[in-house]
Formats: sequence, C-alpha cells, structure tokens
Amino acid sequence: MTASARSAELASIIAHRGASGDAPENTLGALSLAVDQGASCVEIDVSISCDDVPYVHHDDTLDRCTSGSGLLCEHSSAQLDQLTAGKSFPGYEQEALPRLSAVIQFLVRHDIGLNLEIKPRAGLEQRTCEAITDLMRSAWPDHLPLVYSSFSRDSLGYAFALAPEVPRGLLVEHIPRNLFELTDRYACQNVHCDGAKLAHSNAQLVKSGELGLYCYTVNDVNRAQKLFDWGVDGVITDFPKRLFLAMENS
Ligand code: G3P
Ligand code: MG
Repeated sequence: MTASARSAELASIIAHRGASGDAPENTLGALSLAVDQGASCVEIDVSISCDDVPYVHHDDTLDRCTSGSGLLCEHSSAQLDQLTAGKSFPGYEQEALPRLSAVIQFLVRHDIGLNLEIKPRAGLEQRTCEAITDLMRSAWPDHLPLVYSSFSRDSLGYAFALAPEVPRGLLVEHIPRNLFELTDRYACQNVHCDGAKLAHSNAQLVKSGELGLYCYTVNDVNRAQKLFDWGVDGVITDFPKRLFLAMENS
C-alpha cells in the first residue's frame, strides 16, 4: 500500500523497560529478569549524557529512578557511571544506571531482540540519534531483531537518515488521522501505540497498510488477548511472565 510498508517483527510479548513490574525499570537487573521470564525481546528508553554517551533511562531527569538529581543530559558519563538506579525495588539498590553499551552486550550475549525507544531531551534529537546509531552500528549483530521507535518525529527523521537499514516504529498514543502520511514520511515499518486507546477499526487500518502493530503498556491479560484477536503483532508489558503464562493457558 505504501512505499515503506513492511512489518518489522519483534516478538508477541516484549518486556517494557525490562521486567519493570518486578525489578527497577531500564536496569540490567530488570532485563535479566525479563530473560529469565522467557522474553526474547525487550523495550528500553535511551538518551545521552552531556558528552554524548547513550544511557538507558526513561525520564529527562534523574530524580525518580536514580540516586542522582537534575537533568541526565547535563551530567557527564563519568558522573552518571557513579549513579545507582534500583532504589524502587528492595534487593536491587546497587543496580547501576546502565550505559546503552552495557545493555547491548547483555542482550547480544543472550540473543534478545530490541525495541530501542529514542528518548531525546528536546533540542538534542540529532546528537542523540548520532550517538545511538554510531554505537549500534558497531555493536548490534544483523541476526537479532532491532527497531528504532520514538515519539519524537525529528528523531525518526534522523534515524532514517543515519541508519536507513534499521526499521523504524512510529510511536504514538492514538493512531493519527494522517497515519500513512507519517509512516511514509519517516519510512516506518511499524506503528507502536497505546494499547488502552486503540480501537478495533484503527487496528484494522494499520494492518491494511501492512505495517507491524505493537501496543504499550499492556499488563492486563484480557486486554492483551483482545489486541491479539484484532491482529496486533505484539504487546509491550511490565509483566512478561504474567502474559506468557496466560498465553500458554489460552
Ligand atoms: O515504547 C513504548 C513505550 O515505552 C512508550 O512509552 O513512556 O513507557 O516510554 P514510555
Ligand atoms: Mg519507552
């Protein structure tokens, strides 16, 4: 239907920020737990330090998840490497704030696919994409699934320009009216949307464009089943074990 149409397969159950319902989000501990729970693919958020080193972290600021405070992008990698990111879960207090390079090493060692959400601080889209694509080009093997997704349209544009060979996911809350205009503009193979807000008709629309359709953050097994019935290719969940068990028993 469109020039860019071709689904980029990840997995039917993707661990959101690792197994972040049971371990501190975006840490090696949460990723390791996701693998233990059976995940073959994970989603992580990535932004950069002031010296352009990519880190795996969700918020612009460090306060909620780490032992630091203030903007991540205003800290150097030497400073960020001193921080812990496990304070929300007893037993994980010493978890490091991980560099993307450390996470990649772990995922490659365990043969795990990746939905890498590019999460730049506003204004840092180009530098963030350059740092990520440089690192991924040297560290990510061809045989493992990889998709770059982002809410930031500029980031999708830079990702396309810098690494056109890596599939992209248009990341949205709602399916936009101009869906195919956007997926064409950024040559996206996938649409990643909020599973709570997706309507059946919009799932059909996405699939009519032969695009991959992935939904976040789906922790309810009944909702996951409904989304799969609608043709959704995969759900991104904080509780991979819960969904694997439910799918085994369905
Ligand atoms: O990539 C899917 C999902 O992670 C997007 O929302 O805020 O959890 O990064 P958020
Ligand atoms: Mg995310």
